[in-house]
Amino acid sequence: MKRVVEKVSRLEGVIKVPGDKSISHRALILGAAARGRQTIEGISDAADVRSTMDALRAMGCFVEAMPDGRTLLIPNSLRPECDVDAGNSGTTARLLTGLAAGRPARCRIDGDESLRRRPMGRVAEPLTRMGARISLTNGGTLPAIIEGGGLRGVEYTMPVASAQVKSAVLIAGLFAEGDTTVVETTPTRDHTEIMLLAMGAALTRDRERITIRGGTPLEGASITVPGDFSSAAFFLVAALLVPSSRVLLPFTGVNPRRIGLLQVLQRMGARATIESLHANRMEPAGDITAAHSELQAIDLDDPAVVASIIDEIPILAVAATQASGRTTIRGAAELRHKESDRIEAMVTNLRALGARVDAFDDGLAIEGPTPLTGAAVSSFGDHRIAMAMAVAGLIAEGRTEIDDASVVEISYPRFFLDLRAVAR
Ligand code: S3P
Repeated sequence: MKRVVEKVSRLEGVIKVPGDKSISHRALILGAAARGRQTIEGISDAADVRSTMDALRAMGCFVEAMPDGRTLLIPNSLRPECDVDAGNSGTTARLLTGLAAGRPARCRIDGDESLRRRPMGRVAEPLTRMGARISLTNGGTLPAIIEGGGLRGVEYTMPVASAQVKSAVLIAGLFAEGDTTVVETTPTRDHTEIMLLAMGAALTRDRERITIRGGTPLEGASITVPGDFSSAAFFLVAALLVPSSRVLLPFTGVNPRRIGLLQVLQRMGARATIESLHANRMEPAGDITAAHSELQAIDLDDPAVVASIIDEIPILAVAATQASGRTTIRGAAELRHKESDRIEAMVTNLRALGARVDAFDDGLAIEGPTPLTGAAVSSFGDHRIAMAMAVAGLIAEGRTEIDDASVVEISYPRFFLDLRAVAR
């Protein structure tokens, strides 16, 4: 489906974004590894999270919405044979590979065309060292067949900054004999560690070393999922760029490892702040406000900063087109392995709108401020590219036509409705 976005005069209002996708996946998958029932409030309605629910049903779990809107998960006993479709979701495929590796079962995991192009060797490698038998297609991609069980703990130093790899190893570590240690030199999102601790895992964190003791049972818990900062990011940047705008994003997740974009934008001169913090067990949540701002360019290459904004770089690139000076983002080669090659996608699309952009193997540079002109662009089948280009369309002269825009379903099904509700 094609979407047309036109220039707006301002954005004003309150946007309640869907529940955090990363936390929603983990609430389900760790629930499947636990004893007893897991209840989840505020779970994301994203298609990716539905992929995890369906996958866990295929593995033998009971997952249903309760009358009060919460989601109930009862693990039951996981099936000895299962066939899982992870759809478009890298988090589903990789974390479930970790879960399947821990269980004495044979599990086949597949995904859509985009997911079949993404690297799986990065999870298979440590899990194989732990004793799982994993066969991948063409040496490194889906479909995968995992024969799990009989794992032993290992110490694993992560060669790439990836929360998905870290999580897969920790989940497998729950079922391993002895201790499993992940060493992460670049910190990545820590939702798995937070939730494992809250569910009773024997987990310790010592700077860059995270250790889990196998054999300690997880207890089902009651989890409240805050709004997804990565979805809020699109409205946050839109409010900065469209004159006279002001938006409020209530009860949004503000885990320090996720709000790198807010800090980067503040350094660029953004009037965006966390107004108040809510008491939320496990994961911090706050109300974020953002108002139209004059932005200055920035240079980013610190690996920890880049890891903390990895999903937000497409929308940051849109912001950079309106900042004074040359913004450079380096050390972000991981962008080439997301739902699309996000460096290629953003350079192609922003150039179509008249922006001055250069691509590097590991990042991009954007000159600003540059007036944008509406044009036909593509989502490249990638939800975050579609939403980033919709925000660019709000400030471009004329019409911006986004091809295959229904992919926003992957993380934010109501995106265009919410955008229309605050556009004036
Ligand atoms: C995620 C981790 C990141 C991120 C993805 C969600 C997660 O991927 O880009 O959108 O929930 O663990 P990597 O682990 O591949 O960096």
